[in-house]
Amino acid sequence: MGTQRRIETNALLKGYDKASNRSRSDHSRMEPHCGEGSGAYDTMQPTMTEARATETRRGAVVEFDRVTKRYGGRGDAAAVQELSLLVPGGEVCVLVGPSGCGKTTTLKMVNRLVEPSSGRVLVDGDDIGRRNPVQLRRRIGYVIQQTGLFPHLTVGANVATVPRLLGWDAHRIRERVDELIELVGLDPEEYRDRYPAQLSGGERQRIGVARAIATDPPVLLMDEPFGAVDPITRGRLQNEFLRLHQQLGTTILFVTHDIDEAIKMGDRIAVFKPGGRLAQYDTPMAVLEQPADDYVARFVGADRGLKRLSLSRVRDVPLDHPATVRVGDDAATAARVLEESHSPYVLLLDAQDRPAGWLSRKQLQQPGPIGPERAGSPEPLLDKESTLRDALSAMLGSAVQEGLVVDEHGRLLGSLSIEAISSVLRQEEPVGS
Ligand SMILES: Nc1ncnc2c1ncn2[C@@H]1O[C@H](COP(=O)(O)OP(=O)(O)OP(=O)(O)O)[C@@H](O)[C@H]1O
Ligand SMILES: [Mg+2]
Repeated sequence: MGTQRRIETNALLKGYDKASNRSRSDHSRMEPHCGEGSGAYDTMQPTMTEARATETRRGAVVEFDRVTKRYGGRGDAAAVQELSLLVPGGEVCVLVGPSGCGKTTTLKMVNRLVEPSSGRVLVDGDDIGRRNPVQLRRRIGYVIQQTGLFPHLTVGANVATVPRLLGWDAHRIRERVDELIELVGLDPEEYRDRYPAQLSGGERQRIGVARAIATDPPVLLMDEPFGAVDPITRGRLQNEFLRLHQQLGTTILFVTHDIDEAIKMGDRIAVFKPGGRLAQYDTPMAVLEQPADDYVARFVGADRGLKRLSLSRVRDVPLDHPATVRVGDDAATAARVLEESHSPYVLLLDAQDRPAGWLSRKQLQQPGPIGPERAGSPEPLLDKESTLRDALSAMLGSAVQEGLVVDEHGRLLGSLSIEAISSVLRQEEPVGS
């Protein structure tokens, strides 16, 4: 169980390292992507390999400048009201809020599927209202609510949609399609010629993402891209998506109505209120720690302390040093160490300082040298990069509720107690205060 959990935590961390993602967001390096002429859109087609190699590649800056949208004309309630918001290049901005609060409308105004009633939308400082909508859409990837793959086209043809419109030659399209299918975690040989109806929900979502990033667009719009899949697949897709984002450096506007997803995915979160008004636009930490008003506090939920644990890591908390004994020590000596520690367990280490198990008084009654065979398994093992939320759930599910923090070689760095985690929770101010 312990090993299993550790593997999951590590997998999660590899897929979801927002810290390093953020450190790449160097805002001083925002290079404009659009030239004056609209032809500039069509020439921007780096291959995925180029994109990976170019660490400095940046997504475009997306800005809403006092944007209002009324569908029904004058007198009608606004779907989006006086929205001003700037998404820095390369960041993931999550739009979150209840149904009907204007999230999809906001997204569609970035590729001109919906025109604002007033105000401007700018991409890299360029007013998109003055751009040709068709050319604009080719450089803005779009994953629509419920994926929207073309049912009569194969997976390969779906992914090839935009490259085809851009007039790429057949060989280049073919290579790119396979590269993309692989990038989203599927086998091109197996999936290229299938139809959307022959895919699972999660696979459809992946192909939807592959199609949207086919020409490596500087902006990607995603409308509840993982809304239609089960929670486990959803978690996996989220992690894969975050890893992909690190490779691509695309600016992403991501819609969800799930605050947990928003916290996990966003560099910034825009919380919308009914009536299309922006209630707060901030980092996940700021939204959790300083909700702008009662609405945001309620939306974030009563367990925002727990959610905040997702943003802190084991390395942020001072570690304890449990009483330890060595493999080969005498049982009587170990029993004395246990006695003096006033703890129900003592930790057994091997010669390389790696935890080998927990020993209770009962397991030390028999005389002779001690070894892992008489100890309980050394769990829960934690990485210093684990989030406190993952650490807490691993600790609550294990017999000894003391997390063993180890380095990359498995050597003990210290231990983490539930009390240390509660003290992080206690630092929080009460909701609505
Ligand atoms: N084409 C349209 N014509 C008229 N009203 C519309 C149109 N599209 C959306 N609306 C209205 O605009 C408001 C915002 O809709 P929008 O689709 O942007 O909400 P949303 O936040 O994406 O909701 P959901 O979470 O349910 O997808 C709603 O009141 C909706 O009824
Ligand atoms: Mg919507």
